[in-house]
Amino acid sequence: METNLPKRRDNKKSLRVKVISLGNAEVGKSCIIKRYCEKRFVPKYLATIGIDYGVTKVQVRDREIKVNIFDMAGHPFFYEVRNEFYKDSQGVLLVYDVGLRESFDALDSWLGEMKQEMGSQANMDSIVFVVCANKVDLTKRRVVDEGEGRLWAESRGFHYFETSAQSGEGINEMFQAFFSSITDMCENGGKRPVSEVSVGFTKEQADTIRRIRNSKDSWDMLGVKPGATREEVNKAYRKLAVLLHPDKCVAPGSEDAFKAVVNARTSLLKNIK
Ligand code: GTP
Ligand code: MG
Repeated sequence: METNLPKRRDNKKSLRVKVISLGNAEVGKSCIIKRYCEKRFVPKYLATIGIDYGVTKVQVRDREIKVNIFDMAGHPFFYEVRNEFYKDSQGVLLVYDVGLRESFDALDSWLGEMKQEMGSQANMDSIVFVVCANKVDLTKRRVVDEGEGRLWAESRGFHYFETSAQSGEGINEMFQAFFSSITDMCENGGKRPVSEVSVGFTKEQADTIRRIRNSKDSWDMLGVKPGATREEVNKAYRKLAVLLHPDKCVAPGSEDAFKAVVNARTSLLKNIK
């Protein structure tokens, strides 16, 4: 099986790794990298043309890591330029803007593009992913909350950080966790260590919470047809209650989802004879 093992230099303790940034145009990928590498923020938007490349050295425990950063352009126009750069990455920064829901919804298609371009090399277990919920300084325009972002990330075994390239919030912590995980992975023979992927809840629980959040009414929330009987409502409720009960489910947002399900059941039963 193919792994994305980095090239080792002569010195046993130094590593060379490749990381890439992904996400819609204007979400702040370049600014996050600039904040970390140059400790500054540029408020004016300068779209990345194709790819920006940079190198930085970091120390993780007793190792020196040389990080090659490929900062991708998010605009669809640059697809032809960036598609060659997915291969051989050990780390991916997946960035969205907490004030733009479409940039959050687009994360799945970014993963899709990556898998497609990597083809037979697409071994996602050999890559560390960090999700950056960026622009958290702009609190008034926020539309994707922490629970929703964290759930998406952690249900896939990805790290999740709230960041602001503008204020610097979360940036150093995020990069430290990112590089430290990549180092762990390299020391673990190119596989993401198991502890990183086991998050204490199942994909079914995560998907159910997401479905409940996006449901349009109480029928939809319980997953029954409008006009369902009391028995059908109760049966659907019991199934969800077992899955999401706060004693059993530690997924982010499970408590709110459980309460919403209880309320949905109560309101439906009131109107069914
Ligand atoms: P492409 O290169 O086109 O894919 O965009 P990008 O994702 O690299 O976005 P970039 O880093 O260029 O930032 C886009 C705009 O958002 C710029 O005007 C930045 O100043 C602004 N920006 C980036 N991060 C933040 C942040 O954390 N907070 C605020 N308030 N603005 C930010
Ligand atoms: Mg950019």
